[in-house]
Amino acid sequence: MTNRTEHWEGVYGRKKTDEVSWFRPHLEQSLSYIEGAGLARDAGLIDVGAGASTLVDDLLGKGYTNLTAVDLSAKALEVARNRLGERGDKVKWLVGDITRLELPRHAYDFWHDRAVFHFLREPEDRRRYVELVRHALKPGGHVLVATFGPQGPERCSDLDVMRYSGDELHGEFGGGFTKVNELTELHATPSGKQQEFVYCYCRLAG
Ligand SMILES: C[S@@+](CC[C@H](N)C(=O)[O-])C[C@H]1O[C@@H](n2cnc3c(N)ncnc32)[C@H](O)[C@@H]1O
Repeated sequence: MTNRTEHWEGVYGRKKTDEVSWFRPHLEQSLSYIEGAGLARDAGLIDVGAGASTLVDDLLGKGYTNLTAVDLSAKALEVARNRLGERGDKVKWLVGDITRLELPRHAYDFWHDRAVFHFLREPEDRRRYVELVRHALKPGGHVLVATFGPQGPERCSDLDVMRYSGDELHGEFGGGFTKVNELTELHATPSGKQQEFVYCYCRLAG
């Protein structure tokens, strides 16, 4: 087990789903972007660093049938899978590090990441991540990445994080990605603190 995996398995071993600072009962902004993309219900959607979030539940509820959830923490994915019961069998669950994982080429129409990219502090990890997006996303595919904004916290879950404006985040992805828009959200943590999140929504060149 790598240090990263141990760290996140430890977090999910100690805390309940609704106790972690990033918890929201529903990822409303993400759902709104995904629905706004106007995709077919069998479009390929991947949630990177899905954790135990309810995004997959809500997407299944809306009728999406081709969902993949990836996380370093097997425990986190197990929580989500158990919560879903039999419906969980419809989701592809992948345990792995997104900077090392192999994904099929041109498999996904929508790439979703809330609060994962900002943990990648090494340029080489970010390079690998972006390379994987280019490889795994269909040409013309949609990318939604949400990170802490310029006024957001400097640390999360005892780890230092990066903070990005929408343009800085788009800059990490480079020329092949066209920025469609960005949005700032003030997320209220379960302990009542406010955290600035920035959502950057792009399309990969067709
Ligand atoms: C702050 S949580 C966000 C969880 C979920 N996206 C949400 O919004 O509720 C970050 C998640 O990313 C996962 N993670 C961190 N680094 C990762 C990596 N390199 N590859 C895959 N997952 C990672 C953690 O295990 C954790 O579940």
